[in-house]
Amino acid sequence: MDAIHILGGKKLCGQVRVQGSKNAALPILAAAVLVPGISVIDNCPKIADVYSMIELLQSIGCFAAWEGHTLIIDASCVKDNRLPMEHVTKMRSSIMLMGAMLGRTKEILIDYPGGCVIGERPIDMHIDAMRQMGILFSCKDNKLSASAKQLHGAQITLPFASVGATENVLLAAALAEGTTTLKNAAREPEIAALCGFLKSAGARIAGIGGGTLQITGAISLQEAYYAIPSDRIVAGTYLLACAGCGGSVGLEGADPAQLAAVCGCIKEMGGSLAYDGKAVHMEMKGRPKALPYVKTEVYPGFPTDLQSPLLTVLTVADGKSIVEETIFENRFRTVEALAAMGADIKLCGRKAEITGKDSLHAGRVTACELRGGAALVLAGLMAQGATQVGHKEYIDRGYEDICRDFSTLGAQIKTVQEPKAPG
Ligand code: EPZ
Repeated sequence: MDAIHILGGKKLCGQVRVQGSKNAALPILAAAVLVPGISVIDNCPKIADVYSMIELLQSIGCFAAWEGHTLIIDASCVKDNRLPMEHVTKMRSSIMLMGAMLGRTKEILIDYPGGCVIGERPIDMHIDAMRQMGILFSCKDNKLSASAKQLHGAQITLPFASVGATENVLLAAALAEGTTTLKNAAREPEIAALCGFLKSAGARIAGIGGGTLQITGAISLQEAYYAIPSDRIVAGTYLLACAGCGGSVGLEGADPAQLAAVCGCIKEMGGSLAYDGKAVHMEMKGRPKALPYVKTEVYPGFPTDLQSPLLTVLTVADGKSIVEETIFENRFRTVEALAAMGADIKLCGRKAEITGKDSLHAGRVTACELRGGAALVLAGLMAQGATQVGHKEYIDRGYEDICRDFSTLGAQIKTVQEPKAPG
């Protein structure tokens, strides 16, 4: 296994191009199953979760080929509707294939996707919504089977603006008979990206970007082309790294409109931001100011995926901050590792109270999930001395090459091989 070795305490300086969005790429790859032919997906990030999704698509009969960062999927002959367990349990976003497979083959057998360290992550909302479209579900030996003679449109209201449930309904409704109206739909930009791909394949969708989506089922979809937008969570991670380290960075391809909540926090911490139409530029001088209270919310609120990186920056802020995590029930996993690096964080239920210290000290820490792992890299960049972040594979799930990008921004950071555990 690999680890990340960092000699921290330096300001960040330079410009880096932001990769394509993981959370747009994954549902779009699932949507390619609906197209009985070629889908061309441009600006696709080369990350572990995309490779896992490609393996899943290949396991049901699709072909995939890369041309640089363009991924070409041929789903002409989707033949199997059983998703191999090892893939589903490895990556829970495989659940998005449920809606796509039901749209294409009208049945699917999938292992119940487990939770993960950040939460139990149930799929009750996905199932309740798709039942209303005529899909029958049964569960046996932890396998979920779903089938439908014919998917039909429905008037659906989600109890919570779930990103995954919204995506599954979109995928199932694209080829359903009639019109589906989805209320309290998630409004994350990745939903609009998925709609953009589906529309390029001939789907009819109204209300994109809002909380009510209307999908009129098509008879079939045709060959599609779509360019994936930049990853707002990766961009936010890099901006927060600059907030913690100080310096001046430019993020090419970042879209400030998708980063409003993050940029608001950065300005409140003392950062200055500008946008030249191509790149978001940030400057941070001195110690970050504390934030009296920030809570994670559904879009356009502060994104839960940037909660751990923000928490990390606040460990060296000038004063006390409070961060509340309202989306996932167990997303403060980095607190222990940050405390080992000198942070002062008190947890009380879903709230973290951070008392800013002058600095963090270097340490040997271990990632246990994607965004928490990225937050530990930020801690290493901010701390004086040599920090090692173990289990880099978690970070590789969502960051194409975090060492390459931070090296471009002037950090002393590299991948090292972790010594094998004895025995
Ligand atoms: C997506 O997960 C993202 N993943 C997550 O990013 C992101 O944190 C999350 O949306 C929120 O923005 C992908 O897009 C691949 P949800 P998803 O359904 O779809 C509860 C990352 O680091 N819920 O909006 O699973 C659920 O337990 C990842 O890139 C139900 O109770 O998020 C959670 O508490 C992490 N029942 C909350 O809703 C359901 O049926 C949000 O879940 C579905 C969800």
